[in-house]
Amino acid sequence: MNVPHSDALVFFGATGDLAYKKIFPSLQAMLKHGHLNVPVIGVAKAGWNVDQLRARARDSLEKHSGGVDAAAFEKLCGLLRYVDGDYKDAATFQSIRKEMGPAQRPAHYLAIPPALFELVVEQLAKADCTNGARVIVEKPFGHDLSSAQELNRILLSTFDEEAIFRIDHYLGKRPVHNMVFFRFENALLESFWNRNQIESVQITMAENFGVQGRGAFYDQTGTIRDVVQNHLFQVLVNLAMEPPVRTDSETIRDEKVKVLKAIPPLEAKNLVRGQFRDYRKEHGVAPDSKVETFAALQLNVDSWRWQGVPFYIRAGKSLPVTCTEIVVRLRRPPTVFPSCSPAQNYFRFRISPDVTAAFGLTVMDPEEKMIGEQVELLASRHPGAEEMDAYERVLGDAMAGDATLFAREDYVEEAWRIVDPVLKAGTPVYEYEPGTWGPREVDQKVAPPGGWQNPTVTS
Ligand code: BG6
Repeated sequence: MNVPHSDALVFFGATGDLAYKKIFPSLQAMLKHGHLNVPVIGVAKAGWNVDQLRARARDSLEKHSGGVDAAAFEKLCGLLRYVDGDYKDAATFQSIRKEMGPAQRPAHYLAIPPALFELVVEQLAKADCTNGARVIVEKPFGHDLSSAQELNRILLSTFDEEAIFRIDHYLGKRPVHNMVFFRFENALLESFWNRNQIESVQITMAENFGVQGRGAFYDQTGTIRDVVQNHLFQVLVNLAMEPPVRTDSETIRDEKVKVLKAIPPLEAKNLVRGQFRDYRKEHGVAPDSKVETFAALQLNVDSWRWQGVPFYIRAGKSLPVTCTEIVVRLRRPPTVFPSCSPAQNYFRFRISPDVTAAFGLTVMDPEEKMIGEQVELLASRHPGAEEMDAYERVLGDAMAGDATLFAREDYVEEAWRIVDPVLKAGTPVYEYEPGTWGPREVDQKVAPPGGWQNPTVTS
């Protein structure tokens, strides 16, 4: 289906953190690759003018984009407009309409707190800025199931679902996207990718840093809302989905939603939450905070393919390494050589920092004692500097109207359904030492058969 490209980009929150860290670098990259040639209108209430916004863009590119590309930056300055004003004020939106010029199909990027969505969407509609328009919103999409439903209600009151692009930047990462391609373009995997051969699946997203000055945000959010309900569920879904019968966005998204539908709500007994020591001393964090900086959990996917196979997810801040990795363990073969107790075969898929696909296998040991030795068949590479960044991809796709890499209404609500009860259950939070693999309760309560496989990262 041919859908028209957006003919203007309006981004709210132009002086904010997201614009500074992600949006300007993406705009520069899009310009470098020839993917942007429409007016870019920044909106904020900061008392700034367009020159100040340009200076902010330059600073952003220096700090977060590996430097300013002179030609791309000149083009960006030519396309950049700025509207300063209060979102409550109708005049702000009349100015936006004016800056949009003849544009008929703008993309409105709401890089602002969700509490402002309703106001901004209403004002956009009143100022005749929503006909033919798209709206792009950021994660976290809501705080729980009911707030996500409310945000959906607000957006759907003005925009059709096809015009709403809910960003989860993990989906824009090439290796995450590649998981689906890799699974369905290789005959080998499908032969064992099911409950008959697979014993367990584990997904680890480890970060060796803390909350990096985002204490106030993080203390309202916690690991489950920050990365599990969105990024890591997307990873799980890519592992567990059925092959789509067509590659259009809706067919692919239908398959993804089906996986979530097969997952019963997470139970408190299958969750361990942790908090790294001294988190409560971070700026913006409550001194008695019960918010988790680590979570380990077990889910079941009750589908024909996966019933009985536990899926484990573990994510946290201040862990020993920064790495996102999946380990799919196969069941053991029957015994032939009694002296050998083969470790389980596994398939390992690393998303970052390097991209790896590896098979863990047992071979004969060098001494030929028939006790066996573990090896990996491995394909690995480090992403190149020219590789498309996740934000560039999702922003470009949203403006092109390709919804494949965005979370649909039913998807986000299903994802919240799974974690909603346990988020409200007030489960215990165990302290852990920074630089360790989380609280020791994890190994007692939520560990795959054979234990967690901790990723190692060599620099
Ligand atoms: C963000 C989370 O969505 O994803 C952060 O808010 C997390 O807490 C980040 O660090 C990880 O994404 P990436 O792309 O840096 O691996």
